[in-house]
Amino acid sequence: MLNILDFSKLPPVYTEILNKVNDGINIVDEKGILLFSNKVSAEYCNSRPEDMIGQPIENYYPNAVLLYVLRKHVPVFNGRIHYVGAKKYMCSSFPIFDGSKLIGAFSIFRDIQEIEELNRRVKYLEMQVNLTKPEVDIDSVVKSGALEAIFKKAKKTVGSLGGPRHSIITGESGTGKTMLANLIYNYAKKIGVIAKNAPFIEVNCAQFTNPDIAAMEIFGSEEGAYTGSKTKKGLFEQAHGGILFLDEAHALENHQTLLLKAIESGKIRRIGGTKEISINVIIIAASTRNLKEVLLPELYQRLGQYEMYLPSLRERSREEKEMLFSYFVKKYEKAVKKAHNINYHVNFTPQAKLALLNAEYPRNIRQFRDVINCSIDSSSPLLEDVHGQTDIINTVTINDIPFDIADIKSDIPNKKSQEEKITGTVKEMVDKMLDENKGPRKISKELMALGYNIEYYKVAYYIKNMKKKKA
Ligand SMILES: Nc1ncnc2c1ncn2[C@@H]1O[C@H](COP(=O)(O)OP(=O)(O)OP(=O)(O)O)[C@@H](O)[C@H]1O
Ligand SMILES: [Mg+2]
Repeated sequence: MLNILDFSKLPPVYTEILNKVNDGINIVDEKGILLFSNKVSAEYCNSRPEDMIGQPIENYYPNAVLLYVLRKHVPVFNGRIHYVGAKKYMCSSFPIFDGSKLIGAFSIFRDIQEIEELNRRVKYLEMQVNLTKPEVDIDSVVKSGALEAIFKKAKKTVGSLGGPRHSIITGESGTGKTMLANLIYNYAKKIGVIAKNAPFIEVNCAQFTNPDIAAMEIFGSEEGAYTGSKTKKGLFEQAHGGILFLDEAHALENHQTLLLKAIESGKIRRIGGTKEISINVIIIAASTRNLKEVLLPELYQRLGQYEMYLPSLRERSREEKEMLFSYFVKKYEKAVKKAHNINYHVNFTPQAKLALLNAEYPRNIRQFRDVINCSIDSSSPLLEDVHGQTDIINTVTINDIPFDIADIKSDIPNKKSQEEKITGTVKEMVDKMLDENKGPRKISKELMALGYNIEYYKVAYYIKNMKKKKA
């Protein structure tokens, strides 16, 4: 009888085809002796097909799935990852029957290193997007004290019985102006003041270097308005039926009268055009500056019926800072759950938490969020070390906190007033750290992170004095 697994009888073209595929292929007889290995498989174990054929498969693949298939007579599909040295692959193996008699088995396996790498990158990007994507629901973001009143006002701007109004949001960079504008937009959609598919058009008024270009962008243009200009819808028209978010509105200067006219009449005229176009747009103007001092009084009056000032992080209560802290930690945990399906629990040592809460953040909540994320990143285990785990508890320590938190402190103008001597509580802390064999630089870093302005040389001086006293 012709042995159906006699590869010596196989026309060479078939071997060539099997050698060209990207997957590894092994075929064994019923005793596990290799009858065929393609080039990819041979490369996996740094060998050559001609040397492998005739040898037991376990000489090359000690834990080959094929051996299990030979024992159990059942196929095994890609289930788990196998390792050959540093290489990883997924494998499917199938028994070969001649009638009802098992005469061998074959396996096909795929290198998943590259796929895993891509997967890792996608997951990383997904995490970053989840951690920094704008908040969507006005009721779920952090608010307490003064902020509670601001958010109530924000709802009123679009939700009051008198109809929606334009509004102004001011505050330092990173205090949540863009976030609030988006929340107002989502809220307006939710309560039906604007349609579900209404536009939210954002324009950074400071981005235009040339006032003519800015005017054409905002109000649109007709062909020939300027040399080379084309017929184009402006941002006002694009925002029709929705919200026009004028960010950095203090830079509007040159267009204030045009804007005022548009708001008063509900109509715009494209630059170079004659036709008046009706527009129905809710404007939210935002700025890091006081718009009352910058805009024309009539324009300010039109826009600023509702003005919301978002306080800097410095001005916020400890309670609110703690709430923001917990909010961002939760957000991180949720992002890990979403990307990796891991229940991630992040704890902070009291020292690390204190350092994060006490540090100064000139770029406000955005920076606070980024520093928290960065600290958790630093303390988190590597993905390749957590295979199969569904619950992970992780602790962020002072060493995970970005070093430049200490540098940020030195940006503060009022540095002198924070100079401290090594006495009292600080002395106790330094003594304890010295007992733990920490050096002056490390001690200084930890104290700085806790909000004490103790340069390393001061610690070094303290140690020197202490030794002198002991001597
Ligand atoms: N009350 C809050 N609750 C939750 N997250 C907040 C809150 N306030 C601000 N944030 C976070 O801070 C981030 C930065 O805020 P945002 O970009 O809106 O600041 P901004 O005032 O527009 O800054 P810029 O002036 O630089 O444009 C937001 O994406 C959000 O993650
Ligand atoms: Mg912004």
